[in-house]
Amino acid sequence: MNIGLIYYSNTGNTRTVADKLDKKLTEKGHNVTVEEITITGDTPAQPGKFELTNIPDPGSYDAVIFGAPVQAFSLNPVMKAYMEQLPHLDEKKVAIFVTKQLPLLKVGGTGSISIMKKASESKGAKVVASEIVVWAEKKREQSIKKCVDSITNAF
Ligand SMILES: Cc1cc2nc3c(=O)[nH]c(=O)nc-3n(C[C@H](O)[C@H](O)[C@H](O)COP(=O)(O)O)c2cc1C
Repeated sequence: MNIGLIYYSNTGNTRTVADKLDKKLTEKGHNVTVEEITITGDTPAQPGKFELTNIPDPGSYDAVIFGAPVQAFSLNPVMKAYMEQLPHLDEKKVAIFVTKQLPLLKVGGTGSISIMKKASESKGAKVVASEIVVWAEKKREQSIKKCVDSITNAF
């Protein structure tokens, strides 16, 4: 399956998870293309104070994975802006993950997943997996593994 792995990362954590997912999905025989959303302006990005400079097109893939960090108890504004301009997704399978520092799941993680899920579904996609990766040291490895395994199994 041709899978587009589209992510935004400010400090590199989301990129680390994207790279691990790429490796695992490729081992399983998928053809994965990793694409990073980029912006102008200072980071961490603030709403309205940046422009998207690389806007990956999900159109050419059979399935898409979206990954982004949580920022200020919500979805990072860069991924929010990307989600707002998504084209129609033609019933593609979509998986979603977010990375966050705090181990409490209800402060930003579930809300961020919900924003990405709604945006994808409103464009016709079928969301097949969603994962929250907690970056706090004690949970990190276990949390990354759960995310990578669950999303890989969904395709
Ligand atoms: C400005 C800012 C706000 C953040 N707000 C939250 C937050 O509300 N909840 C949380 O769990 N982590 C928060 N974090 C931590 C990031 O979500 C976490 O480090 C994430 O893995 C960063 O991903 P990245 O390295 O791909 O940018 C925040 C980080 C920054 C820089």
